[in-house]
Amino acid sequence: MVTRVGILTGGGDAPGLNAVIRAFVKFATREYGWEVVGVEDAFNGLMESPRRLQILTPVTCRGLLHRGGTVLGTTNRGDPFAWQERDGSISDRSQELADAVRDEGLAGLVCIGGDGSQRIALRLMQEMDIPVIGVPKTIDNDLSATDCTFGFQSAVDIATDALDRLHTTAESHERVLFLEVMGRDTGHIALTAGIAGGADIILIPEIPWDPARLADKIRRRRSSGRPFSVVVVAEGALPISANGLSDTERKARLKAAGGAGAIAMAELEGKVDHEMRLCVLGHLQRGGSPVPFDRLLATRFGACAVELVAQGRWGEMVALQSGSVDGVPLEEAAITRFVDLSGNLMRTARAVDVEFGG
Ligand code: F6P
Repeated sequence: MVTRVGILTGGGDAPGLNAVIRAFVKFATREYGWEVVGVEDAFNGLMESPRRLQILTPVTCRGLLHRGGTVLGTTNRGDPFAWQERDGSISDRSQELADAVRDEGLAGLVCIGGDGSQRIALRLMQEMDIPVIGVPKTIDNDLSATDCTFGFQSAVDIATDALDRLHTTAESHERVLFLEVMGRDTGHIALTAGIAGGADIILIPEIPWDPARLADKIRRRRSSGRPFSVVVVAEGALPISANGLSDTERKARLKAAGGAGAIAMAELEGKVDHEMRLCVLGHLQRGGSPVPFDRLLATRFGACAVELVAQGRWGEMVALQSGSVDGVPLEEAAITRFVDLSGNLMRTARAVDVEFGG
């Protein structure tokens, strides 16, 4: 019988994490009378000595619905199977985690995290017999098991607002303005915000782009009386010249150039007459309050996680599928969902004359 359950947030933060925690705690304590134990900084709070745990109650969760970040703290460097010791060496400390879970009398762990955290959660269940429930989180919206992750709409909102602002200054100065948005592996934020913000060019990791096509688009706009352009660049979008590079080589190229936006701007240098400027949106996309859509989705995810625990459906992850939130096997959780290049969003973008460079 469940009396005590742990909850933690892992990986990069996303607006809505606190709303999941709040919903989980309210439902779990009021309806089932469980004690909810918040584990600080992903799994770290259970593995360090002394342990860093917080008893969460509806009172301690007051005011969390709209608060950004996570009150539990998070890290993307806390894998118990590959634990980084102070001297830099790596060791497997998963047994210590399993012992701590049992020692604390936790029926299981609710892991709110992205693909990395869900992969760890699955291993904990399969290899260490620790009961887990996953709650998917990423502003990138690139997990295939769920139609949407919370945090994504908030990020799109911020990126769209940035595009609106860049538009007016681009037009005043007849410049080409680049907005680099997050999206290391997938271009969902760039594509969605790009359409909503009326971008002329959208560069995504799924489409290696040809600088000549971008230059052509910008020149065509000028000759049709639009002597400015706005370009959205996902942080993992690279030109065709990077085709065939390994992951490590791609990362090195991005790092050396100062990011995908800088590469795009450099590739157009000398090919168009305009002055160009780059704006890197960065972590502004992850901070601050979740938009109403994300508050609602996060609350639904938190409530559903309680139901899964109550039904003993350990090893599942909550997911939104066709409008309804329910559990899916954790095995399906960590598969990356790339932009569907022949899907409706891409066709819509092309219908309104967005150039992708490929
Ligand atoms: O996965 C979410 C994400 O925001 C990516 O879009 C981005 O590449 C990455 O996290 C940034 O991570 P960090 O905060 O560790 O720099």
